[in-house]
Amino acid sequence: MNILFPLLLLTSALPSAESAFAMNSSEIQSPSRTDEMILHNDIRMTRLSNNQMMPMIGFGAGNVPRSHVGALVADAIQPDKKIYLIDTARESKNEALIAEGIVAGAERCNTEDVKPEIHVITKVWYTHLGYNRTKLAVEDSLEAFRDALESDKVDVKLHIQLHYPRCYESIEWMDCDNEEAVLDEKVKQVGPDPRLDPRNSLKGSWTYLEDLYLSANFPVASIGVSNFALADLEEVQEYSRVQPHTLQINMWSVLYDPLLVEHCRRHNIHLQVYNALQSTMSSLEYVAKAVPSSTMTPGQAVISWLVKQDISVFPRTSKITRLSENSATDIASMPSFSPKQMEDIEFALRRGFGEDDIIEELPIPPSADVVSWFLAITSLIVIVVTIRAPSVSSPPKPLKATPKTGRRKRLKPKHRSREVFKVREKAPVHIGRSQWLVSYLLKQMRL
Ligand SMILES: NC(=O)c1ccc[n+]([C@@H]2O[C@H](COP(=O)([O-])OP(=O)(O)OC[C@H]3O[C@@H](n4cnc5c(N)ncnc54)[C@H](OP(=O)(O)O)[C@@H]3O)[C@@H](O)[C@H]2O)c1
Repeated sequence: MNILFPLLLLTSALPSAESAFAMNSSEIQSPSRTDEMILHNDIRMTRLSNNQMMPMIGFGAGNVPRSHVGALVADAIQPDKKIYLIDTARESKNEALIAEGIVAGAERCNTEDVKPEIHVITKVWYTHLGYNRTKLAVEDSLEAFRDALESDKVDVKLHIQLHYPRCYESIEWMDCDNEEAVLDEKVKQVGPDPRLDPRNSLKGSWTYLEDLYLSANFPVASIGVSNFALADLEEVQEYSRVQPHTLQINMWSVLYDPLLVEHCRRHNIHLQVYNALQSTMSSLEYVAKAVPSSTMTPGQAVISWLVKQDISVFPRTSKITRLSENSATDIASMPSFSPKQMEDIEFALRRGFGEDDIIEELPIPPSADVVSWFLAITSLIVIVVTIRAPSVSSPPKPLKATPKTGRRKRLKPKHRSREVFKVREKAPVHIGRSQWLVSYLLKQMRL
């Protein structure tokens, strides 16, 4: 196969891949942010823009079978795992089960001296956009979490986000008309259908979250948004009294939306990612090649790769055994990645997203350094060959200028490989041998 095509693809793709990586790793890891990733109580924590410390490794309880939720949450917060961040949403309808799991788990922890501090993220569904609808949704969430919030065995910090900026008619699974139609009457009575005035509904929701956050009665630990595009985020920031502390996005956005990621970095909006494992399942075999299997599993490598960039993650699992693999204690004990490994993991993840054409023939693509060296050496050879090549007008060297006998005396046949002989026999007499050798090799490679 002609290697020129993948080479060209590789070289032309490199700057963008590199710059994307620079966004995702170097700029993301600005020293000030990296310093905030504190190893506290044996787990990775981040500091939000309001100075609230928040664990970075969590358990995604959204979409977990209801029958498993309580047991998984109780197990997640045990001292051997310290998964002190639980993610869910009002729409997952499991907030009360999570509260039960937290209380049961805290009782099992039996730590008399220090109460575990458990952070819970929940979200307001898009049917509840608008000041009064959002207020109702948050009040229902608070009621569902009441047992955990009031327990003296545990200290629960609640983080509230808007799940989506609006309902999109264009997204197939968003059944906007029907979802509005089947809403409880009390929801419809407190506020209008948010689709009638999407911008004001969003503004109303954010204003309610701000009021809640600023109120003395029930200060939530942070307020944020989820699935917001850059334009949505900027819109909220324009009128906000309290800037969003967090943004929850899917893995695709981490890899392919550098402007959004960069914006959050600049505005100190902490990034959280969902779909981190689900969407990268087909990348895991490539991730495995980028990190020694003796140190971590591919899943742990993906989690660590995100955490190293100060991005929180809360893998979902329905298996208690998996909780150990994804635990905050295990991830905190993993060796740190070198910049090269960070780059290799990113390439591996991108490959799982269908970028095989860019890195067609390279299981783990060479680092930018290796490619630069390869290009530099190739260019050098081309320059040398060009300089040594006789000008068009210069006459071919006469045969006698390279007397065979003299050469043979210096390099005895028995010390040469048969290949060298073959090459020499085929070499045209009017060009230098090294020059011919290069063109012969290039020909073999069909360049
Ligand atoms: N904001 C939003 O709109 C939004 C949307 C979706 C999800 N979320 C939140 O994000 C959480 C997680 O995201 P997700 O539901 O997309 O799933 P995910 O965590 O990306 O992936 C879950 C899948 O990964 C597997 N898995 C777990 N740990 C693994 C490991 N160490 N190695 C290999 N595979 C592993 C699980 O299998 P097993 O069950 O067999 O372990 C499961 O099939 C959800 O629970 C939810 O709380 C938020």
